[in-house]
Amino acid sequence: MQRTEIGTCIKKAKRLLDSSEIISIPTETVYGLAANGNNSQAIAKIYAAKKRPLSNPLILHYKDTSSAFEDVTIVPKDAETLAEKFWPGPLTMLLPKKQTIPDSVTAGKNCVALRVPQHKLCLALLETLAYPLAAPSANLYGRISPTSPAHVKEQLNTRIPYILDGGICEKGIESTIIGFENEAVIVYRLGSISIEEIEACIQKKVGLKNKLESNQEVLTSGMVKHHYAPNTAMFSIAQKHEGNKIENCGFIGFDTLHPDFPNENQFLLSENGNIDAAAKELYRSFHIMDAKKFSSIYIEFMPEIGIGRAVNDRIKRAIQKYNS
Ligand code: TXA
Ligand code: MG
Repeated sequence: MQRTEIGTCIKKAKRLLDSSEIISIPTETVYGLAANGNNSQAIAKIYAAKKRPLSNPLILHYKDTSSAFEDVTIVPKDAETLAEKFWPGPLTMLLPKKQTIPDSVTAGKNCVALRVPQHKLCLALLETLAYPLAAPSANLYGRISPTSPAHVKEQLNTRIPYILDGGICEKGIESTIIGFENEAVIVYRLGSISIEEIEACIQKKVGLKNKLESNQEVLTSGMVKHHYAPNTAMFSIAQKHEGNKIENCGFIGFDTLHPDFPNENQFLLSENGNIDAAAKELYRSFHIMDAKKFSSIYIEFMPEIGIGRAVNDRIKRAIQKYNS
């Protein structure tokens, strides 16, 4: 059984990746589980460690925009405009891949998911590498994405040799995934960059094909219902009725304590009502509240603005698991 070490050594991270190992890397959104994106043998280890179905493709992480666009056959004008504005940053673009990209990265699809992450240590590592990093979130399949090295270790301990410690993730919610259909820009996964920001950048409306909000088939297979759910049953606070027993229940709120729950059973995402700060805390709150072994957890939705929409999307998915 291998020991999982946590450290900040880029040289060690590079040495492991160069020898086809997988390691966890920090990004500004959530921690990733990374392998050499040109090496199918290393990529296979990601699927095995996460217990992820082989049909679910991976995002490639690049050091800069030009090396990302070199790996695709078409770059629409809007993609260029968005890259200029949001890369490095939490935006993932689906574009037609060159043949050189291994099928194990894209699970046989024609498009590859590209992003240039914003995390300093992650970029410093990418600078030293001769290849992009294939990386899904560093959680076991269907579990909560990790936003700290400790969360990664909790789920992947002994399955990976190294976690590159870049502290707590700045954003706390995964990247926004977009694609291009004819002239339209479509959001496939709500994420850290809001729809409003994307629309302001390209000066036009974008579409949304997110399974929760439309009946269309989702393109990104990871957007299944049961993603992002803690083990403890989770319900919307709006589902709580007068007289419901709540002694052994937790409450995750936005900025105000709930009078019906003991204070020690509550977690406020942002005491001063800041949605970005709340997003950063969301998955951590799931981890912490899950560990308290409540009989159930009630949670409150955030205001539907900016990143609040992506936070609410993750809350809906977490709740859905126990309401279907
Ligand atoms: O913020 C993030 O995006 C994080 C960090 C580590 O970069 N990564 C992440 O990866 O969330 P993952 O694998 O947990 O979620 C990526 C989603 C999955 O739902 C996957 O199905 C979809 O992107 N995806 C990846 N490549 C795709 C492709 N070629 N076509 C369609 N969907 C794709
Ligand atoms: Mg994931």
